[in-house]
Amino acid sequence: MKLKDTGITAAELKAKASKYMIETYERFDFVAESAKGVYIYDEKGTPYLDFYAGIAVNSVGNCNEKVIEAVKTQAETVMQLFNYPYSVPQALLAEKVCTMIGMDKIFYQNSGTEANEAMIKMARKYGVEKYGPTRYNIVTAANSFHGRTFGAMSATGQPDNACQIGFGDMTPGFTYAPYNDLEAFKAACTKDTIAIMVEPVQGEGGVNPATQEFMTGLRKFCDENEMLLLLDEVQTGWCRTCKTMSFMNYGIKPDIVSMAKALGGGMPIGAICATEEVAKAFTAGSHGTTFGGHPVCCAAALAAVTEMEEKHLADNAAKIGAYFMEKLKTLPHVKEVRGQGLLVGVEFDGINAVDVKHKCFDKKLLITAIGDSVIRMVPPLVITEADCDKAVSVIGEAIEELS
Ligand SMILES: Cc1ncc(COP(=O)(O)O)c(C=O)c1O
Repeated sequence: MKLKDTGITAAELKAKASKYMIETYERFDFVAESAKGVYIYDEKGTPYLDFYAGIAVNSVGNCNEKVIEAVKTQAETVMQLFNYPYSVPQALLAEKVCTMIGMDKIFYQNSGTEANEAMIKMARKYGVEKYGPTRYNIVTAANSFHGRTFGAMSATGQPDNACQIGFGDMTPGFTYAPYNDLEAFKAACTKDTIAIMVEPVQGEGGVNPATQEFMTGLRKFCDENEMLLLLDEVQTGWCRTCKTMSFMNYGIKPDIVSMAKALGGGMPIGAICATEEVAKAFTAGSHGTTFGGHPVCCAAALAAVTEMEEKHLADNAAKIGAYFMEKLKTLPHVKEVRGQGLLVGVEFDGINAVDVKHKCFDKKLLITAIGDSVIRMVPPLVITEADCDKAVSVIGEAIEELS
């Protein structure tokens, strides 16, 4: 069977990919020929239940109609500008995002790692200009993940991980402290520390939510010591974790927050939002990007966040996430189910998470594994209880076959 509009088979396509692409990904072994809602389809029309959603990206569902419409319209109107003229979708999205999450200013980037670079650069420049040339250090969490460019890699507290090994020295200015350990974070700060940077839920680190005490403690400590609180909400943001942003669950506000993934509804966009005061650190020439704030991506993001708002997807994440987590707890070999909303991790006891992932794939359920003991599920936020029942039943079968 030929793939649609190509004249070649799935096997021929895979051979081309292996021959010409630099492969750093462990593939799901199928060609995703089309996608809609909570399903991805191969060339035979076989549906795969999508509980990884492009890794927390396709929150409004795969190939969302409103996002497609916005992309088409914008591409036909103004495709790309650089950032010198004013752009309609940029300004409208800026207002929408800042209003929805209660922050003052936005700066657009293209991805999560770039958003974190911008967040780190802004905090460092703020520190150096306000307090002097040595005040640029940032304390981040052990086991964190912030991205794959040098600043974000260096902020990532996983020195033994493949994402850091073999690349030479990391960028100076980062120290790590154990996650959810407020006293350790306080102890790691020095007179040269300008900020603390954490994820409200560690995603790649095994789905570990921050405690209330940790988050309010960090906010208070930063306020008392004229330090900034930086939150990486690349994975947690945009309705996945019960509120528009995860920080809203804790009743605190960051000085800068980074976002990406779900914001674009499937198109690549990243951003930081900052307070008016901290945002002043970025002045003409101090930071910039050719593609950041691309009109088509901003138009897609505006459509996506409007969908999230109108369809109450944060509430759906809270309701369906709670239902899903309760069901998962009933499965054998489950040591712990943890997460926030529809960012869900299951830790196994006596069974390998990677094997569970592979078995689920054989049964047409797409999930990811983190290490050998945890599976992570970040489905589209439009899923129903019935979709969860299906996923739980498949995971249950996989466990049974591996027991
Ligand atoms: C918390 C967090 N920060 C940053 C990143 C990097 O984002 P990107 O892959 O868009 O560069 C990720 C990606 O998984 C992430 O989960």
